[in-house]
Amino acid sequence: MISTDFIPVNQVSLDGNEKKYLNECIDSGWISSEGPFVSQFEEQFAARVGRKHGVAVSNGSVALDAAVTALGLGKGDEVIMPTFTIISCAAAVVRSGALPILVDSDPWTWNMNVDEVKRRITGRTKIIMLVHIFGLPVDVTPVLELAAKHGIRTIEDAAEMHGQTYMGRPCGSFGDISTFSFYPNKHITTGEGGMIVTNDEELADKCRSLRNLCFQREKRFVHEQLGWNFRMTNLQAALGVAQLERLDEFVARKRRMGSRYTEQLAQLSKIQLPLCSTDYAENIYWVYGMVLADELLFDAEEAIRKLGGHGVGARPFFWPMHEQPVFKKMGLFAGESYPVAERLARRGFYIPSGLGLTDEQMDRVIQVVREILS
Ligand SMILES: Cc1ncc(COP(=O)(O)O)c(C=O)c1O
Repeated sequence: MISTDFIPVNQVSLDGNEKKYLNECIDSGWISSEGPFVSQFEEQFAARVGRKHGVAVSNGSVALDAAVTALGLGKGDEVIMPTFTIISCAAAVVRSGALPILVDSDPWTWNMNVDEVKRRITGRTKIIMLVHIFGLPVDVTPVLELAAKHGIRTIEDAAEMHGQTYMGRPCGSFGDISTFSFYPNKHITTGEGGMIVTNDEELADKCRSLRNLCFQREKRFVHEQLGWNFRMTNLQAALGVAQLERLDEFVARKRRMGSRYTEQLAQLSKIQLPLCSTDYAENIYWVYGMVLADELLFDAEEAIRKLGGHGVGARPFFWPMHEQPVFKKMGLFAGESYPVAERLARRGFYIPSGLGLTDEQMDRVIQVVREILS
């Protein structure tokens, strides 16, 4: 754990079997992706989200690249996705030659606006990408109904959703392909890492091949297709197995943190706090985000500077895809505007909520946020 006066936006919790399993890797010499923890982690993680197949990869971004490629996207295809998300989602689509078709966010859950998804469907729509944002899932049912009606495949980006459910069913169980990230700010971490899960054996085989340079079984170094080295190491998977043993405990801890922040900050009238729950899910607070009211004369950037000045780490919300310079330079999204996402990007930020955060640190964060925002 990092122990300085500054309270970082994330601190990890690695005090279960992590060291023991890592020592097993070192003692046995199994450190590459061929070691036994990789398949153990894949099987246990897939079982946890109710899927038949798990394919461990090196991070959550490449999981999306593999998913998009396995589903066979190409030039002229369209993929509907939220504009308010991480660049990994749109980058995977753009790299495949397809076109991201953006939708705005719901101002309360910060997830994609499902009514807009319906309006954006065309004859070229090949995939809808459901991206669960910050701790509450997308309202999945209407999206899946639309997809089924129009014969559209789905990718579910559940990078932030370990242990979350929608109507009691695990997030990660909804997409034709669903993906996860295990970056250290996630509910469980492998340092860097990701997982692709699916019930479709053919898609799972494609993803396994894509992550392993499309080596062939018979003639290993003769390639029919281009893949990548997206493999996860045994060392990372060892961490994953140890972390997965504690997922329920971690989700419960994050929920306690979220409730405590909400209780202590609810009286501040100039910020919007995350919803504790919706009809279909209880927040798991991947991050504890907040949005500044318009009446406050400073924006998120300034709020983050002020918090930092008092020793509290904070990060801005995502910057929308239609406002990304890299996509503008490619001529994408010209003249498009999504006002909810634009506002979230300018007025939203999140405060420390890592699993290693102590009660004393939380008290200090609460005190500083009150000072700055009341
Ligand atoms: C929604 C979402 N998708 C994808 C990713 C990418 O995961 P990674 O950082 O493991 O590449 C993240 C990372 O935070 C994310 O939040």
